[in-house]
Amino acid sequence: MSTVAVILAAGLGTRMKSRLPKVLHPILGDPSLLWVLRTLPQGLGGAVVVVHHGKEQVVAALEAWQKAGLLPCPVSTVDQGEPLGTGHAVQVCIPELDRLGASRVVILSGDVPLTTAATVARLCAAEALLLAMDLPTPGSYGRVLQHGDGRLAGIVEAKDATPAQLAVQRVNGGAYALPWPALRKALLGLTNDNAQKEYYLTDAVAAAAAEVRVAVDICDPQELAGMNSRMDQAELQAWAQRRIQRHWMAEGVTFLHPDSIQVGPRVTLDRDVFLEAGVTLEGAVRVGEGTRIGQGTVIADSVLGAGVEVRPYCVIEQAQVGNGAKVGPFARLREGTDLGEAVHIGNFVETKKAKLHRGAKANHLAYLGDAEIGEKTNIGAGVITCNYDGVNKHKTSIGRNVFVGSDTQLVAPVTIGDGALIGAGTTVTADVPGDALALSRVPQTSKEGGAARIRARQQKK
Ligand code: UD1
Ligand code: MG
Repeated sequence: MSTVAVILAAGLGTRMKSRLPKVLHPILGDPSLLWVLRTLPQGLGGAVVVVHHGKEQVVAALEAWQKAGLLPCPVSTVDQGEPLGTGHAVQVCIPELDRLGASRVVILSGDVPLTTAATVARLCAAEALLLAMDLPTPGSYGRVLQHGDGRLAGIVEAKDATPAQLAVQRVNGGAYALPWPALRKALLGLTNDNAQKEYYLTDAVAAAAAEVRVAVDICDPQELAGMNSRMDQAELQAWAQRRIQRHWMAEGVTFLHPDSIQVGPRVTLDRDVFLEAGVTLEGAVRVGEGTRIGQGTVIADSVLGAGVEVRPYCVIEQAQVGNGAKVGPFARLREGTDLGEAVHIGNFVETKKAKLHRGAKANHLAYLGDAEIGEKTNIGAGVITCNYDGVNKHKTSIGRNVFVGSDTQLVAPVTIGDGALIGAGTTVTADVPGDALALSRVPQTSKEGGAARIRARQQKK
């Protein structure tokens, strides 16, 4: 007994007017198809994604998500070839579903991203179920016909419906659970004798419903809304954002100007997190208790501890920030940045593959790349790690309680011992022992009256 999911994702998505396959268009930073796959419960016998248009891009995305551990079950793909309808899309999966030993099949669409995990779990647990919604203007959706006891009698596509059928407001959400033997048999009997000359999955579902009792579940229309145009994308994104914000507000998070804030589906926020206007949190982001994120800050794939203060307009990607750290305004933390507790990173400081231990400070205008900086070390204004020689990157290691004077260049590879003092303006090209003073300055000379003599020569012509 094994339930296998089939995700339909072969369509062209003409109305998106895009080179990107429709199912890869993002909602709050995550592609639609990833939203769908992430709702699948653990313990499924697998998921089969039906692809064709933009196949290479979809397969590459699936591989990346699998590698990143984002998929709850093994996912395979089947190329539909020229798409001949939703029924054809599942027909081409017959060998794969047989191979996976499916006893029940759950079918979802890759362009319907907002179905909740709870709804999908209900579908996966059901013997035979169709998800429907009641719409005041049912438009082009298939109409759901039911027997007196509520079970499914049939589905009629709008283009094939009689006027009386068109008046039905209960429509097909395009998500189904069915026993595989009944669906398999129905798929083999499909014809394309209809208005669109397509092989309709809905006909197969109706045929299966003649053999097994198919229940009909009415869902919130937002959960079954498809993304077919950029307008749909914007609307779905707004719905998803409201749902996510409602959740985190209930968990004790403040959104200062909710409409300007974007928080993705893989973000987790502890209580008393405070988000100012225009903040964007994308990908896998975790923010600890009481942390405040300043206006206009963008954070992706990063972990921030508790009591962190991120001042306005910072960009933080693939970084870790320890408890009580202060960052910004206008700081850029790049991949591999690891800030310890109470580290201070000030304005116009860029870090990359930089580990700063507890209490270290770089408060103004610095570049720290491929560097390790010890506890309580102070990096002055304008300090640059010269980590790149044009071919390779090299490491700068700085001990604890070091004072690096302003405008110092650290030509890597270089190591500075604990307690050393680097004079302002030094170009460090050799290791500095602990507690040493390093200076590399041309001795200063002051020529008495020299400025006046030069100005006299500089008379305007
Ligand atoms: C389908 C249903 C309709 C339902 C609606 C809900 C059929 C015949 N009709 O209509 O009853 O109300 O969904 O949204 O199923 N796809 C393929 N291969 C194909 C055709 C489609 O993979 O050959 C994929 C599409 O990429 C999309 C999904 O299947 O993800 C649905 O296809 P779409 O053409 O949007 O079906 P609808 O006409 O909307
Ligand atoms: Mg559709």
